[in-house]
Amino acid sequence: MAKTTQKTASAKPKSSVPKIIAIVNNKGGVGKTTATVHIGHALARQGYKVLCVDMDDQANLVQYFFGRRKVNELKKQQNGVPLPIQHHDSAVDILMLSSFQGKESDFVQAIQSAAEGYDFVLLDSPPALEMRTQATLQAASGVLIPTEAGALAFSGTTNLINLAMEYELELHGIFVNLYESKMATQRAYYEQYSVHFADNFIPVRVNKSALFANAAADAQTGFQMQGKKIHKDLEAYIEIASILAGGTNNG
Ligand SMILES: Nc1ncnc2c1ncn2[C@@H]1O[C@H](COP(=O)(O)OP(=O)(O)O)[C@@H](O)[C@H]1O
Ligand SMILES: [Mg+2]
Repeated sequence: MAKTTQKTASAKPKSSVPKIIAIVNNKGGVGKTTATVHIGHALARQGYKVLCVDMDDQANLVQYFFGRRKVNELKKQQNGVPLPIQHHDSAVDILMLSSFQGKESDFVQAIQSAAEGYDFVLLDSPPALEMRTQATLQAASGVLIPTEAGALAFSGTTNLINLAMEYELELHGIFVNLYESKMATQRAYYEQYSVHFADNFIPVRVNKSALFANAAADAQTGFQMQGKKIHKDLEAYIEIASILAGGTNNG
């Protein structure tokens, strides 16, 4: 059994079945990896046992948590079986499947056996609908879709909802990342999304913020950047984590 963080001492419900949540969008650069890191750390701060899985062969998730050197080190250790789970200071555990080779069913098996004992398993998926993404959807119990407030993202998001339905996954919701409140088009798209996606829309805006790029460059999470003080741009992720923990997307 891995340890839990004690940052928030309040009693949390003990679930025996992990929620395995695929963070998907075949579009690159919408913030899948950043969301996985920060929702993972936010859930850990709320006292949950969290495993984040890097499904992308670029290993950006592992890089975000540990830096590039660690990615290279782990790649050298890769043999025919999944690598051991890595522990991070945030209390989040990380499984790197980036350099693992196998069939779709091997990835599903690797995720499901690693998931045991965790409250949440967050799957950071690749930026294309390739085999690794299919394995991610196959292993998951639900999906969370980060998107941008723009025209191109709109139809892509609809396709992803249909895909989640095909895999019979719980749709935890869609949320807008890289939000710029000063841009009228973004405000308009945000409103349009909230109407169009209705109950599937998480009414939370993750601001475009230098915090995330700075954190990534320092190989730490945004929560670790300023010690005890929580940057306001992290509040959106705390809210999303609470929604996932509470099981509703309109609270
Ligand atoms: N809210 C944000 N504000 C500013 N930059 C962000 C934000 N979210 C992500 N980024 C940056 O955008 C880039 C792509 O994000 P990433 O999480 O890697 O996307 P994906 O995993 O979908 O490809 C990264 O450089 C990341 O630091
Ligand atoms: Mg990524």
